[in-house]
Parts: sequence; structure tokens; C-alpha cells
Amino acid sequence: MSTEIKFNLNGNDIQVTVKDHWTLLYLLREVMGLTGTKEGCGSGECGACTVIVDGQAVNSCLYLAVELNGRCLITIEGLAGPDGTLHTLQQKFVEHGGIQCGFCSPGMIMSSKALLDENPTPTLDDIKHALAGNLCRCTGYTQIFESIQAAIDTGTEDVEVVAWKNET
Ligand code: FES
Ligand code: FES
Repeated sequence: MSTEIKFNLNGNDIQVTVKDHWTLLYLLREVMGLTGTKEGCGSGECGACTVIVDGQAVNSCLYLAVELNGRCLITIEGLAGPDGTLHTLQQKFVEHGGIQCGFCSPGMIMSSKALLDENPTPTLDDIKHALAGNLCRCTGYTQIFESIQAAIDTGTEDVEVVAWKNET
């Protein structure tokens, strides 16, 4: 069975028809071609597929696409500015070695963004707790935590997705 859904994707209102059994991860990668969101385990264990729905970090591999109806979705593609300027979190991950192979990075950054949107000044324990569902096999996590702390020190208010919202 198929259902037509409407939702906001990275600041733009869109409408798509989805099969009721599609996951959000399948919709993004296989239907919409938004491959920034990664598929690791496919079963809620690794966090590589993390996106933000209505302000909450969710595993898109466990989230049915049809549940998006009426909601606001932010993916990693929504973070950089229209001119390619990186979001502060992305920039700090680059500068502090938070990205090595890069497979976990979109999920790490989306979980971090959800945290900072809710709490702009988290402690290291807060960061570790927020990222507990995101696995990295390369960095040992220290550089990731340092990247997030550097973004906190810089401030992220100037690069919110809402700044590029298309009202049409
Ligand atoms: Fe979704 Fe691993 S691919 S949690
Ligand atoms: Fe390779 Fe995290 S940078 S899995």
C-alpha cells in the first residue's frame, strides 16, 4: 500500500508517495538520492543513519517513512549553507580529526546537532550520553568529543538550517 505524505525537508516543504513498509533511510538513500545519511547495521545499533525529526535525533533505519507526514526533517545535506559553507560542527570535525574514514560522521554530526540545539552548553558527560548510540571504529571517540567541544566554544547560532528556509 502507498501513502502520500507531506513534510519539511531541510527547510523545504515537499510531498512524496511512499510505500507503507519503507524506512526513512530507504526513502532518503534509494528514492531521493540523499546518500549523506549512511546505512551501517540497518537495525538501530550503530547510529550511522541518524537524522533529526522534529528536533529529535532518530535512527532512520528504524523509522517508517510514512511517519514523517507533517513533520520537520533535517538531514546532513541540510547543514552546509547554499554556497557550500560548512556548518560549524562539520568544520570542527574536519579541523580536530573527528572524521577519519567518515562513515560514522553524518550520524555523529546529526546527533551532536540535536544535542546542541537543545542544550548549547553541554558537559562532556552530556556529549558522551548523547552520542552513546553512535559507533565509530576509527577515531577512538576523543577527537569527536574535542570537535564538538570546539564547536560549542565557537557557537553554532549563525548557521542554523532555518536561515535558509524556503517559504515558497
Ligand atoms: Fe541505523 Fe545502524 S544503520 S542504527
Ligand atoms: Fe570511521 Fe568513525 S571515522 S567509523
